[in-house]
Amino acid sequence: MATEETLVLVKPDGVARGLTGAILARIEAKGYALVDIKLVEPSRELLAQHYAEHEGKPFYEPLLEFMMSGPVVAIRVAGNRVIEGFRSLAGTTDPTTAAPGTIRGDFGRDWGVAVQQNLVHGSDSPESAARELGIWFA
Ligand code: TYD
Ligand code: MG
Repeated sequence: MATEETLVLVKPDGVARGLTGAILARIEAKGYALVDIKLVEPSRELLAQHYAEHEGKPFYEPLLEFMMSGPVVAIRVAGNRVIEGFRSLAGTTDPTTAAPGTIRGDFGRDWGVAVQQNLVHGSDSPESAARELGIWFA
């Protein structure tokens, strides 16, 4: 089976809290390869493409504002089954209930703001990974 690639983002909360290194360490400790990495201040246009599936949902506008609140680290990560593997490392969407041992479960919680600040993004399918890597690493 061919080696997969996925897009991982350390969101503005993760960068601001100084957790980029801890998150990268978990990806490397799992045995995945860092293929490319950069610090980005994403435009609204880039984020609208990235989160197109969520347009119109109540959390969409706050999500875009949050994602523009500070720099994001974008990482191209490779490995067999890395798409589902990183989603497993990240934990479920809501950081309050994400399992301990996951990135969101160990480092995240509800900060009392409308949008869920959950530290990381990981592509959810091969189609999403190809689309999102094309957006962030054009
Ligand atoms: P989603 O793609 O459903 O989650 P995931 O990041 O686990 O793939 O949602 C994208 C992001 O939108 C999510 O990481 C945080 C934010 N979000 C909210 O703020 N409120 C919500 O109710 C949901 C479902 C998501
Ligand atoms: Mg998603």
